[in-house]
Amino acid sequence: MTEMTPVTQDKTKAVPALPDAQTVTEVKHYTDRLFSFRCTRPASLRFRSGEFVMIGLMGDPHPETGKVKPLLRAYSIASPSWDEEMEFYSIKVPDGPLTSKLQHIKVGDEVILRPKPVGTLVHDALLPGKRLWFFATGTGFAPFASLLREPQTYEDYDEVIITHTCREVGELTYGRDLIEGLKQDELLNEVIGEGFWKKIKYYPTTTREESPRMGRITDLMKSGEAFADLGVPPLNKDTDRAMICGNMAFNLELKAMFEDYGLEEGANSKPAHYVVEKAFLD
Ligand SMILES: Cc1cc2nc3c(=O)[nH]c(=O)nc-3n(C[C@H](O)[C@H](O)[C@H](O)COP(=O)(O)OP(=O)(O)OC[C@H]3O[C@@H](n4cnc5c(N)ncnc54)[C@H](O)[C@@H]3O)c2cc1C
Ligand SMILES: NC(=O)c1ccc[n+]([C@@H]2O[C@H](COP(=O)([O-])OP(=O)(O)OC[C@H]3O[C@@H](n4cnc5c(N)ncnc54)[C@H](OP(=O)(O)O)[C@@H]3O)[C@@H](O)[C@H]2O)c1
Repeated sequence: MTEMTPVTQDKTKAVPALPDAQTVTEVKHYTDRLFSFRCTRPASLRFRSGEFVMIGLMGDPHPETGKVKPLLRAYSIASPSWDEEMEFYSIKVPDGPLTSKLQHIKVGDEVILRPKPVGTLVHDALLPGKRLWFFATGTGFAPFASLLREPQTYEDYDEVIITHTCREVGELTYGRDLIEGLKQDELLNEVIGEGFWKKIKYYPTTTREESPRMGRITDLMKSGEAFADLGVPPLNKDTDRAMICGNMAFNLELKAMFEDYGLEEGANSKPAHYVVEKAFLD
């Protein structure tokens, strides 16, 4: 028989080192609701551009036991699969359990990064096509920040269209800077060829602040304005492939539109014409 020793709680014990800890290497703030950060990447972590992982911080000590547990949330990996570091693009929810703390991280701090990437916004879930569409609202841009820096995106498609719908102009900055920066991307210029970025058509819109192009992308597609602006026909299952990442209502509205266009939803196990992922849980 094993002798049982009484367990006592030492509330003064130091908080344990973070499990799966990675070190923050860069933090950028865009608005009072949006920021991005980069951190070290574990040598063993492999992922496909477009996937998401669980990341987080230690939660507050339990008021009675003093125990602390990791506070984790799903995050799309915004960096491409070849990058030596990891990048994330994040919301700041004022009273959000994780992001009310995460928004204060600084270079040198540690974050928890769980090593199991998953997700449907991957090239493997789509059948071959000519034109690839990315549809994002808000932080739903994150997986496309990864895929826009992934060489396969340009190897597999003649044209890449990225639409980003946000409430305000400042919420477009992360995506706009990233797309502008692609022109100088050494790897893509070398692997795909100088001028590869001419394959990209960027279509940003705002809904609540004045900007050169206003409106929800769904409405702009229904009216035909988006297709006229972009100089392309409406989506067609023979040529077009699409990935969607936004709020629930946006995802559902686009899904219904795609089904009307005759496109079928794909998955890792059954590639088809389009794939969907939630940008956050409502
Ligand atoms: C598959 C998946 C991938 C995700 N990827 C990202 C990502 O790359 N970047 C990111 O910031 N978040 C992402 N999220 C959301 C993320 O998991 C957390 O919800 C977010 O970090 C807020 O955490 P929280 O604990 O502060 O608040 P929570 O309690 O998780 O959320 C509180 C409320 O804030 C709102 N909210 C949460 N996240 C967002 C958001 N991203 N945009 C707008 N409103 C939001 C919702 O109304 C939610 O009910 C993703 C979620 C899923 C399911
Ligand atoms: N962004 C802010 O400034 C702000 C400020 C305070 C609080 N919040 C809260 O934070 C949460 C998330 O805000 P968010 O702005 O990141 O995300 P969001 O509310 O999901 O909106 C992001 C963009 O998607 C558009 N959109 C929403 N539903 C759509 C649909 N069915 N089809 C097409 N486009 C659609 C919105 O247009 P519409 O503008 O037309 O809805 C907006 O431009 C919300 O709960 C919100 O109340 C946001």
